[in-house]
Amino acid sequence: MGGSIFEKLGSLSFLIMFVVLVSSSKGVASATVSTDEVGALLRWKASLQDTQSHLTSWSAQHFPNETSPCTWFAISCNTAKSVSTINLTMSGLQGTLHEFSFSSFPNLEHFDLSMNSIFGRNILTSSVPLEMGNLSELVELYLNTNKLTGQIPQTFGNLRKLKVLYMFENMFVGSIPLEIGKLASLSNLSLHTNNFSGSLPDSICDLRHLALLELYRNNLSGPIPENIGSLKSLLVLNVGENQLSGPIPISIGNMSKLQVLYIRNSKLSGSIPQVIGDLMNLAVLRVASNNLTGHLPQNLCKGGVLANFTANGNRLVGRMPESLRNCTTLYRVRLDGNQFTGNISEDFGEYPNLDYINLSDNKFYGEISEKWGKSLRLKNLEIAANNITGSIPPEIGNLTQLHLLNLSWNHLVGTIPMVLGELTSFVKLILNDNQLSGVIPQELGSLTDLEFLDLSKNNLSQSIPSSLGNLVNMHHLNLSSNKLSQGTPIKLGQLKQLSVVDLSHNSLSQEIPTEFCNLESLLTLNLCHNNLSGVVPQTFADLRGLEFVDISYNRLWGPIPENRAFQEAPIEALQGNQGLCGNATGLQPCTMTPAKKKHSSNIGYKVVCLVVPPVAGVLILVFCGICITYRRKKNCQKSDEEDMHPKEFELRSMSIFEGKLLYEEIVKATEDFEDAYCIGKGGTGIVYKAKLPSNDLVAVKKLHSTHCDGERSFEKEFLNEVMALTGIRHRNIVKLYGFCSHSRHSFLVYEYLERGSLFSILCNEEAAKELDWSKRVNIIKGVAHGLSYMHSDVSPPIVHRDITSKNILLDAEYEACISDFGTAKLLELGASNRTAVVGTFGYVAPEHAYTLKVTEKCDVYSFGVLALEVMNGKYPSDLIRSLLSQAEIREGNLPEDVWDDRLEPPTGKILEELVTVLMLAVACLHPNPQFRPTMFDVSQVITMHIDLSDRLGLIQGSICV
Ligand SMILES: *[C@@H]1O[C@H](CO)[C@@H](O)[C@H](O)[C@H]1NC(C)=O
Ligand SMILES: *[C@@H]1O[C@H](CO)[C@@H](O)[C@H](O)[C@H]1NC(C)=O
Ligand SMILES: *[C@@H]1O[C@H](CO)[C@@H](O)[C@H](O)[C@H]1NC(C)=O
Ligand SMILES: *[C@@H]1O[C@H](CO)[C@@H](O)[C@H](O)[C@H]1NC(C)=O
Repeated sequence: MGGSIFEKLGSLSFLIMFVVLVSSSKGVASATVSTDEVGALLRWKASLQDTQSHLTSWSAQHFPNETSPCTWFAISCNTAKSVSTINLTMSGLQGTLHEFSFSSFPNLEHFDLSMNSIFGRNILTSSVPLEMGNLSELVELYLNTNKLTGQIPQTFGNLRKLKVLYMFENMFVGSIPLEIGKLASLSNLSLHTNNFSGSLPDSICDLRHLALLELYRNNLSGPIPENIGSLKSLLVLNVGENQLSGPIPISIGNMSKLQVLYIRNSKLSGSIPQVIGDLMNLAVLRVASNNLTGHLPQNLCKGGVLANFTANGNRLVGRMPESLRNCTTLYRVRLDGNQFTGNISEDFGEYPNLDYINLSDNKFYGEISEKWGKSLRLKNLEIAANNITGSIPPEIGNLTQLHLLNLSWNHLVGTIPMVLGELTSFVKLILNDNQLSGVIPQELGSLTDLEFLDLSKNNLSQSIPSSLGNLVNMHHLNLSSNKLSQGTPIKLGQLKQLSVVDLSHNSLSQEIPTEFCNLESLLTLNLCHNNLSGVVPQTFADLRGLEFVDISYNRLWGPIPENRAFQEAPIEALQGNQGLCGNATGLQPCTMTPAKKKHSSNIGYKVVCLVVPPVAGVLILVFCGICITYRRKKNCQKSDEEDMHPKEFELRSMSIFEGKLLYEEIVKATEDFEDAYCIGKGGTGIVYKAKLPSNDLVAVKKLHSTHCDGERSFEKEFLNEVMALTGIRHRNIVKLYGFCSHSRHSFLVYEYLERGSLFSILCNEEAAKELDWSKRVNIIKGVAHGLSYMHSDVSPPIVHRDITSKNILLDAEYEACISDFGTAKLLELGASNRTAVVGTFGYVAPEHAYTLKVTEKCDVYSFGVLALEVMNGKYPSDLIRSLLSQAEIREGNLPEDVWDDRLEPPTGKILEELVTVLMLAVACLHPNPQFRPTMFDVSQVITMHIDLSDRLGLIQGSICV
C-alpha cells in the first residue's frame, strides 16, 4: 500500500519538475535565475539555526538588487552565474530540508550537507523531500552524518547524472528503493550505518559503474543477489553487519577488480566459494561471524595482495590452504573460533608484515616452533585454547613489538622464558591454564607497559618476584592456582592501577602487606586458599572501590577492616581462618568476652587486642586495640567459644586476656604512672619503668595525652605503623612490644635497657669514665648498624628523625640500642592535624629549616653530631664548626679539644679507629644532604678495619661527583 502512495507522489514530482523546466527555459536571463536562487537560499537560511554563524555572508542587505549569491559562503556558480555547488559540510547547521526550494537550483551539481544536524520535520514524513528528485543536474550528493529520518523517496531514481550518493550515518528506514537501479552513472553508493531493512533490490546489480557499495550496519535481510557479480567495476563491496542470509553468491568470482570484500557479522551460510581465490586484487576478506562451513578456498592468497583476512566465528574446518602459508602480505589474520586443524608450525609460515594473528579456539596442534619468532612485526599473537604442546621457544623473545601474547588453555610445559622480560612493549601476557613450571621470571618486572598478566593455573613455584611491583600500569594480576610460596611482595602495593588481584590457591605465607592499602583502584581481591597469617591490614578500610574480596582459608585473625567489601562479604569469603572477627554476617563481633574471666572485672573500658603471636623467649607481644573505637559498639555479644576450633580459641582468648591484663599490670606496676617510676622525659612522652608480675621489665612510654584525644586518629596508618615496628628485630634497635590505647592513657611498651640513655651516661662523671674509648667506638658502630638496617633493609625504609644521645640506650654490655624508632612518624600520624614532630635542636640537619622533607639523610646528619658527641663527651657545638672549616682531617691536625678530656687521650690502634669515625662524622655533617654518605656506607666502613682510608676515599670520591 505504501508503495502505491509513493508511486503517486513520484509521478506528482515529475509533474512539478516539468513545470520548473518549462519556466526556467522561458526566463533564460541569468538575473532572474539568480534572484530566484538568492531568494531560495535566504528563505532556507531563515529556517536554519546557523550555530557557527557561517551564513552571515548570506545577507539580504542588497536584495532584491543583489544579482548573484556566487560570492556567498559555500556557494559556487557556473559561468552563467547560476549556483552549481552548495558545500556546507561541517557547518554546524541545524534544521530541515523542507524549506529548501529544490526547483530553484536547476544547475546544482554538487550538494554537500554532510556532517551537520539536518533532521526531519517529524518521524512520519521523509526528511528528504520528494522534490530533491528535481535536481536533475546533480552529480554528487552528500547527506551523510546528519539526523535524517524516514525513507529515501523514489524520486531519487530521477537523479540520472548522480555519481556519488552518500547518505551514511543517518537514521533512514525502509527498504532501499528499487529505483536505485536507475542511477546509471552511480559509482559510489554508501548507505551504511542507518536502519534500512528489507532485502537488497536485485536492481542494484544494474549499476555497472559502481566502484563502491557500502551498505554495512543496517538491518538488511534476505540473500545477497545472486547476480551481484555483474558489478564488474566494483572495488569495495561492504554489506557486512546486516542480517543477510543464504550463501555467498558464486558470481562474486566475476568481480575481477574487487579489493575489499566485507560481509562479516551476518547470517550467511554455506561455504566460502572457491572462486574467491580467483580475485587477484583481493586485499581484504572479512567473512567473520557468520554461519559459514567447509574449507577455506585453496587459492586464497593467489593474487599475492591479501592483507586482512578475518574468518573468525564460523564453523570452518580443515587445514590451512597452502597459499596462506606463503602469503607474505598478510597483515591482520583472525581465524579464531572455528574448527581448523593442522600443525601450527607446519601450516603457517613467516610473515614479515604480520601485525595481528588470532588462532585461538581451534584444533591446531603441534609445538610453537622458533619460526614464530620470525614474524618480526607481530604485535598480537594468540593461539589460546588449542592443543599446543611443548614449551614456549625463547625465539618469541625476538618479537620485540609484541603487545599481546595469549597462549592460554593449551598443554605447554617448561618454564616461562626469561627473554619475555625483554619484550617491553607487552601490554598483555596471558599464559594461564597450561603446565608451565619453574619460577615467575623476575625479568617480567621490566615490562613496564604491562597492564594484564595472567599466569594462573600452572605449576609455577617459589616466590612472587617483587620486581612485579615495577609494573605500575598493571590493571589485572592473576597468579592464582600455582605453587607460589613465601610472602606477598610489599612492592605490589605500588600498583595504583591494579583493579583485579587474584593470588588465590597458592601457598603464600606471612602477612598481607599493609602497603596493599595503596591499591586505590582495587575492585577485586582474591587471596583465598593460601597460608597468609596475621591481621588483615586495617588500612583496607581506605579502599573505597573494593567490591569483591575473598580471604577464606588462610591463617588470618583479628578484626576485618572497616570496608564494605569485607563487611558485606558472604561468610564463604571469610571462613577457614583463625579467628577473624568483626561486623560481617557469620563472624563474631570483635569484642572481648565479659564476665567470664576474672580479669574482666568492673572496668569502664573495653580493650580489644589485635594479636601478635608470642615469640619465644620474649615477652608476649601485645597489641591493644582502641578503646575509643570499640566503645561505640554497644552490643558486645558473647563470643561463642565452644564453636571455635581449639587452636583458634586458644590464640584468641589468650590475646584478649593478655592484652587487657597487660594494661592493668602496667597501670599497677607504675602505680598509675607515679613519678617514682619515671626514667626519662622527652618531647613525645614520659618513660616509666614497669616490672610485670612475670618479673619482665619493660619501659613504658606514656604519650602526652593530647595524642589520644577521642579521635579515631590512631586507627589506620598508626596501627599499621605500630604493627610494622613491632615486627622489627635488630640488636641495635630497642624492641617495641606493643601499644595500648585507652581513654585515660596511651602508651608504647618497649624493651627495658639497664643502663639508660647515652645522654645520661655522658652527663655523669663516673659513668662517663667507665665508658672507655673502645666502648665508645662500639656504641657508634651499633648506632650505625641500627640506622643502616632501618634505612636499607626495611621496606619501606624507616627514618628515625630524632637521633640524639637521649634516644640511644645502653644494655648491660654497653651495646647501643636506638629507641623511639618510627615514633616521630607515629605521633605525626596519630595527631592528625598537629604540626609534625621535628627532631631535637642541634641534631637536626640544616636542610630541615628550608625543606620539610624528611629523608634518611637527616638521620645521617644527626648521626654525625652524635658520633662527635660520643668522642667529645658533650654536645659538640664548637667542634662541629672547627672540623667543618678544616680542609682535611688527619691524625696530625686534629682540633685540640676533640677528645673527651675525662678519658686518657686515645693512642695507637684505637686512635686510628677514632680518626676514621671522625672523618665519617664530618662527611655526615656535609651541609648538602646529597653529599652525605648513606648509613649503609658508614656502617660498611666502620666494620672493616683494614684499608679504612681507601674505603673512605672511595666513598668521599663518589659523594663528591
Ligand atoms: C533596487 O533597484 C531599484 C531599481 O532597479 C531601485 O529603485 C532600488 O532603490 C534598489 N534598491 C536597493 C535596496 O538598492
Ligand atoms: C566540500 O568541501 C570540503 C572541504 O571544505 C571538501 O572536502 C569536499 O570534497 C567538498 N564537497 C564537494 C561536494 O565538493
Ligand atoms: C547455521 O546453519 C545451520 C545449517 O547449516 C542451521 O541449522 C543453523 O540454525 C544456523 N545457525 C544460525 C545461527 O543461523
Ligand atoms: C588492514 O587493516 C588495517 C587495520 O585493521 C588497515 O589499517 C589496513 O589499511 C588494512 N589493509 C588493507 C589493505 O585494507
